[in-house]
Amino acid sequence: MADTQEFDFILDKVVIVGLGLIGGSFASALKQAGVVRHVVGCARSNETLRKGLQMGVIDEGQSDIAEAVKGADLVMLAAPIGLTEVLLEQMKPGLNGHTVVTDAGSVKGNVVEAAKRVFGVMPDWFVAGHPIAGSEQSGVAASNPNLYTNHKVILTPTEECSPRALQMVTKAWQVAGAEVLEMDVERHDEVLAATSHLPHLLAFSLVDTLAKEDENQEIFRYAAGGFRDFTRIASSDASMWHDIFVANKSAIATMLDHFERGLHALREAVESDDSETMLGVMTRAKVARDHFTTMLAKQAYSKESNQMTEKNVKFVARPGGKVSGAIRVPGDKSISHRSIMLGALADGTTEVEGFLEGEDALATLQAFRDMGVVIEGPTNGHVKVFGVGVNGLKAPPGPLYVGNSGTSMRLLSGLLAAQAFDSELTGDESLSGRPMGRVANPLREMGAKIETCDDGTPPVKITGGQVLTPLRYDMPMASAQVKSCVLLAGLYANGETSVVEPAPTRDHTERMLRGFGYAVRTEGSRATLVGGGSLEATDIDVPADISSAAFFMVAASITPGADLLLKHVGINPTRIGIINILRLMGADITLENEAEAGGEPVADIRVRYAPLKGIDIPEDQVPLAIDEFPVLFVAAACAEGRTTLTGAEELRVKESDRIQVMADGLLALGVDIQPTEDGAVINGGVIGGGSVESHGDHRIAMSFVVASLRAAADITIGNCANVATSFPNFIELASQVGINVSVSD
Ligand code: S3P
Repeated sequence: MADTQEFDFILDKVVIVGLGLIGGSFASALKQAGVVRHVVGCARSNETLRKGLQMGVIDEGQSDIAEAVKGADLVMLAAPIGLTEVLLEQMKPGLNGHTVVTDAGSVKGNVVEAAKRVFGVMPDWFVAGHPIAGSEQSGVAASNPNLYTNHKVILTPTEECSPRALQMVTKAWQVAGAEVLEMDVERHDEVLAATSHLPHLLAFSLVDTLAKEDENQEIFRYAAGGFRDFTRIASSDASMWHDIFVANKSAIATMLDHFERGLHALREAVESDDSETMLGVMTRAKVARDHFTTMLAKQAYSKESNQMTEKNVKFVARPGGKVSGAIRVPGDKSISHRSIMLGALADGTTEVEGFLEGEDALATLQAFRDMGVVIEGPTNGHVKVFGVGVNGLKAPPGPLYVGNSGTSMRLLSGLLAAQAFDSELTGDESLSGRPMGRVANPLREMGAKIETCDDGTPPVKITGGQVLTPLRYDMPMASAQVKSCVLLAGLYANGETSVVEPAPTRDHTERMLRGFGYAVRTEGSRATLVGGGSLEATDIDVPADISSAAFFMVAASITPGADLLLKHVGINPTRIGIINILRLMGADITLENEAEAGGEPVADIRVRYAPLKGIDIPEDQVPLAIDEFPVLFVAAACAEGRTTLTGAEELRVKESDRIQVMADGLLALGVDIQPTEDGAVINGGVIGGGSVESHGDHRIAMSFVVASLRAAADITIGNCANVATSFPNFIELASQVGINVSVSD
C-alpha cells in the first residue's frame, strides 16, 4: 500500500454508487491508506448498506443518489454497466461541476456514450476507468482493501477530461496499490473484447453446446483437466456478462469474425491432413502462450524485464577449482542462426540437430516465426523448419525484437532489405548502442531503403518493395556479419554480388549456402554469388561452439593437473585462432576424431595443463579468434611474461567495449594490464580476488569465472544473466568439470 504522505492527497468525501466487491474494495483501500475523511455508500438494498456500515467500508448509507453525491470530491460508479445511464441521470441533480466522477465498468465506449447523452456533452470531470481485478466472491461482504494491489487499472480519459479530474482518479487508484495505464476508449474496448470478452463468450457457448447435446450430461463425468481449464469462466455471473456483451457488441463481433476465420482454416487443415498448417497454428500459439506465462511470472523475456533482471544475476567463483572430464558444450551460435535463416528460405523441410537453445539463436527463430515460418522445436537441440522459399516470408505483426543478438540484427537487415514488406529491428540496451551503419551503408548502395539513428545505431527501419542491384563490396573491416548480410541481400539482386574481406572471417554462410545447393564462389578473399536462385532444404548437424569451448580450453591450460576432453567441436579454419594462439603460448592441445559434419570440420579437443608464456599475438589471428579475446586476456594474465594484442579495435564494438571492460576487471583483480586503442598489453602475474562487472556481456562474465581458477580469493561477477544468450548451461558444465562457481541473485 502506498504511503499517504507521498501522495499528499486527501479527499473529504467519496461516494460509492453500487456497493459491491469492486466499489467496496475501492473504498476500503482509500480508507486503509487514510486518504479519505468520509465515505458514503449507495445501494438499492438496505441490507447491503447495513453490511457496509457494519464492516466499516462506508461511514454513511444513502438510497437517494442525488443527495449522496452532493459536495463529494469523487464519485465511483461501480454498478452493473447496464445501469450506467440510469444512475448518471439519477445523480445529475446533485453534481456541481466540481465533483469528479469515475467508473469501473468493463466496457468504456457505452459508458462514454451514456455520459454524453445524460449531460449533453462529455463532462470535463468524468474519467472512465476499468480496474483489471476481481475475485471469485462478490458483494460488499467480500470487500478487500488489497484487491487492487499490483493490478492494472486502465483509464480512458477523453479529450474533454480536465487534468485535475484525471490526476485525482489516477492518484486514488495508485493509493489503492494499482498500476494505472491510459488508453483511448476504442482501443480499450477492442483489447478487452479480444482478451476477456471473447474467451468468456466461447466458454459459455462451448459448455452450453456440450450440455445441450448431451442430455444426461454423461460426458462431463469423463471430462478432465482440459475441459475444466478451458471452461472455468463459464461459471461467471451470467447477467453481468450479458450486460458486457450488449455493451461491447461491435468489438466482440469483430473479434469473433477473426476467430471464426482462424477456426475455419484450422478445421480445413485437420480435415485435409495438412500437418504444416496445423503445426503452424499450434507452434505459434504455444510460443505466444509460453510468452504470456513468462510475462505473468515476471521472468526475463521482454526488453523491460530483461533489463530489470539482468543486473541482479551475479556469479561467485571461488579459487581451488579443477578442470577434468569430458563434456560437450552447446551448439555453435553462428551456425545455429544461419540454420534457421537458410532453412526458412529453402524449399522443403530442414531438420537441425545440435541447435543452440540460447537467447540469441532463439531470437532469430522467433523473428522467422513472426514472419510466418512454421518452426517446430527446439527440443533437445532438434529443430524442424518448414521452409517458405526465398520469396515466402510474410510481414511481421510488429517490430522484430532480437534482444542482445548482433548477428540476428545484421544478417536479418540484409534479408529484410529485399522483402516486399516494411520492417523494423530492435534490440536490448547493449545492442541498441552497436554500429549498424556497417550493414546499412552497403545495403543502401544496393538500393535498399534503410534507416538507423543518426549515429548509426538501432532501431533499423527498412522500407520494403525496393529492387536491389548487385554489388561488389570491399569491406572496410573484417566482419563475417557484414559479409553475410551483403550476401543474403545478394540472393535477391539481379546479378553477381561479391564481398572482399580485408582478412579471413568465419565462412559459415558460404558453406551453408552451398549445403542448401546454392552456388557460392570463393576466390582468395572474394566470395561471390548470383541472385535469383533457390535453396533446397537439407539437414544440419550443428557442431559444439568453439567460442564456448574456448573458456574450457583456457581453464584447462591454466589449471595445474587439468586434463579435459571437449567433444564434437567445430574447428572451421576461420574459427581456430584460439587454438593457434594458445599453442603459440605453450598450451597442450591435441585434436582427436577429426571428421566432417554437415560441411563443417569437427574434432574432439583434448587440453592438458601446461605453463603458458606471453607472446605478441599475430594480427592475422585476430579475426579468427575475435570472440575469444576476453578469455585470452585471462590466459595472458596467467602466462609468464608480456602478451601484446594489436589490431583488435573491433573488440570495442562487441556486446561491450571488451578492451576496456576486461582491462577494468583485471585491474580490479590486481593484474598489470594496459589497454590500448586496438588491443592491450598484459603482464602475467598473480590474480587477486574482488568484484568485477561484466556489463551484461556474456563472454566477459564467463572469462572471469575462468580467472577464478588461478585467483587468490573469490571473484564476484555482476550482471551475468546474458550468459544465457550463448551458453545457457555454462554454470552446470563448469561445475561438472570441477570449477567452483555459483549463481546468486
Ligand atoms: C559472427 C561474427 C562476428 C562475431 C559474432 C558472430 C557471425 O561478428 O563476433 O559473435 O555469426 O557472423 P563480426 O562480424 O562483427 O566480427
